[in-house]
Amino acid sequence: MSKYDEVKKQLIQTPKTWLVTGVAGFIGSNLLETLLLLNQKVIGLDNFATGHQHNLDEVKTAVSLQQWDNFTFIKGDIRNFEDCEKALSTENLTVDYILHQAALGSVPRSIADPILTNSANITGFVNMLTAAKNAKVSTFVYAASSSTYGDHPALPKVEENIGKPLSPYAVTKYVNELYADVFNKTYGLNTTGLRYFNVFGKRQDPDGAYAAVIPKWTAAMIENQDLFINGDGETSRDFCFVENAVQANILAATANEEGKNQVYNVALGDRTTLNELFSSLVSALKSNEVNYAKQAIYQEFRAGDVRHSQADISKAKNLIGYQPEFRIQQGINKAMPWYIDFINKQKT
Ligand SMILES: NC(=O)c1ccc[n+]([C@@H]2O[C@H](COP(=O)([O-])OP(=O)(O)OC[C@H]3O[C@@H](n4cnc5c(N)ncnc54)[C@H](O)[C@@H]3O)[C@@H](O)[C@H]2O)c1
Repeated sequence: MSKYDEVKKQLIQTPKTWLVTGVAGFIGSNLLETLLLLNQKVIGLDNFATGHQHNLDEVKTAVSLQQWDNFTFIKGDIRNFEDCEKALSTENLTVDYILHQAALGSVPRSIADPILTNSANITGFVNMLTAAKNAKVSTFVYAASSSTYGDHPALPKVEENIGKPLSPYAVTKYVNELYADVFNKTYGLNTTGLRYFNVFGKRQDPDGAYAAVIPKWTAAMIENQDLFINGDGETSRDFCFVENAVQANILAATANEEGKNQVYNVALGDRTTLNELFSSLVSALKSNEVNYAKQAIYQEFRAGDVRHSQADISKAKNLIGYQPEFRIQQGINKAMPWYIDFINKQKT
């Protein structure tokens, strides 16, 4: 039995209470769905800055009524300390684990508005950490980012070798790690950072100027629009299916002493170029009877982007038993029917 299966079995036997911030977002709503299916109690916090009510509605349809009753939603903003405290004192529930996902993602957004990104990603983060420390929460797992590797040239990326950040967003995510470490050393709060590498899957928002590449391209292909590649298409990423990221969160929260107070790469340990990604998406759509026959249009490289990214995931494998269950094509195939349905619903 894998470590993840073992942990899931234990959680079903002895349910815990979790706070998921950013619960109406992409990763947050996938965490919520898995936790509720495991009969956990979940408190969710979100201000709908980039998350959506329809993500929560969709989770409701994926779980039983009884499981949905285990969920309490709080509309609130992590930039307000009182909202963070409120989320930890709901209905007299004692929160065992926090999975802190709330933040403003996107490198270009942070370049356009560094003050806004800073307020959610740093002020909001310190608020949440402080509320967690005051409420004596056992473990605080947070969404860190592969952008922390910045200009460090080595591949694959190993946790201890980071470079200089290349964007305001990357600065905020690195500062999160520094604060988390200091909160562990000074207050004894267990903190674990998960450096996500290009997570993708159902409910990742395809809309807006700051959409990530997979949902953006998928939506463009379904709608038969022109599709643009930044640079020559040989830029590569370690795309990670969201269910692998969910696994990492659950393992990190429930880890033993050795596995806590660490920072882990959360990825597949593989590298896919944008040109390869383009072909994978075309072929997955074809299997769903959507034919995209246009060629990609190449344009300028984007400011703040790193050229290549690939994780070494051995630390998470060794310390928390992380074993990604989905390769990139499997994840794309799983997510595709959701995207087709979502885009078609948007049209009607
Ligand atoms: N998706 C990825 O590939 C990726 C990669 C690296 C890191 N991350 C990090 O993972 C986390 C989740 O990202 P996601 O892809 O699910 O993005 P998302 O935008 O779908 O989710 C973020 C959620 O946080 C909420 N939020 C933002 N500001 C808030 C605030 N001030 N108060 C309360 N809620 C707030 C949003 O409304 C949204 O629901 C973020 O911290 C992000 O930086 C994601």
